Amino acid sequence: LAVIAAAALTLTLAACGGSGSSGTPGATSGKTLRLALNQTEAHPSYIALDNFGKRLATDTNDRWKVQVFPNETLGAQQEALQMVSNGSVDMAIVSGTQLENLNKDFRVLNMPMAFSSIDGQMKVIRDKSIVGDLFTSLEGNQHVTVLGGFTQGERSVYTKFGPVKTPADLNGKKLRVQESDLMIAMAQAMGASATPLAYGEVYTGLNSGVIDAAENNEVSYFTQKHFEVAPYFSNTKHLVGLDYLIINTDTLKKMSTEDRASFDKEWDAAMTEHTNLWQKSTEKAIADAKAGGAKFSDVDAAAFKSALEPLQAKFLTTDSQKALWDKLQAAQK
Ligand code: GCU
Repeated sequence: LAVIAAAALTLTLAACGGSGSSGTPGATSGKTLRLALNQTEAHPSYIALDNFGKRLATDTNDRWKVQVFPNETLGAQQEALQMVSNGSVDMAIVSGTQLENLNKDFRVLNMPMAFSSIDGQMKVIRDKSIVGDLFTSLEGNQHVTVLGGFTQGERSVYTKFGPVKTPADLNGKKLRVQESDLMIAMAQAMGASATPLAYGEVYTGLNSGVIDAAENNEVSYFTQKHFEVAPYFSNTKHLVGLDYLIINTDTLKKMSTEDRASFDKEWDAAMTEHTNLWQKSTEKAIADAKAGGAKFSDVDAAAFKSALEPLQAKFLTTDSQKALWDKLQAAQK
């Protein structure tokens, strides 16, 4: 009887534990992870994520795969974040501005002047002693784990109406920003009136005149075709933006130890691939936008810097924000 009981218990445990590849308790055998992205297939983020998925499938003998849904087909970033949180979508790329709405410490990395270069930014987000707590901070309430990120490069202002030289040129103009308090204040500091909109609505907004201007990197400017409707790109370079890869925490926890190691390794390689693609993609985007009629011009950088500086005192107010800011600056020295 004891033998039968022991055998039955073993069977029950095996059934409960699923078929984790290396016997990790609670692990599932795998899944096709659905990933929401708001970029086109030509964007470096799509390319790096698609390659990440292919390598992950190879490494895990097809146990774990990634299916990237580009072009906001699963929803804009605000919805994507919600869906990752409730588990209806497994992963998403979301801008730091979206996470700032859930934990204000993310603001620190969204500030103008937070990063002086893309290399400095990537160094920071790979350093667990700086961002470790931040990346797990949404697990408890939101069931969202941050895994790392892709640079957004330098963001600049572009308009329908003409080149911008100083913040005064934006007076009374409606500038589209991402949906966050910091971004609204940033637009106002640059002299404009702020209009928060989802990324996928920017082209139509510019085209119909709902907005007069937007701000983004050259890759988005070209791949979203914004240059067609806002041909004046002014190099304000007001911040180096950051996108994060997020995953539903429960899904992540179901990975066996062995598969999680493959996942981490290949995701790290994806961050490297993306960073390497970025510079070339930016140069190509500038050339292609110019060929399509866009005009690039330089601004009075000092005027923008002094307009944006006061944001630090206004938005970095808590001890944890200040401590994080100091760590960011120290790491980039
Ligand atoms: C960049 C960034 C996106 C973001 C977009 C925006 O393209 O990579 O994640 O959504 O800017 O301005 O909304």
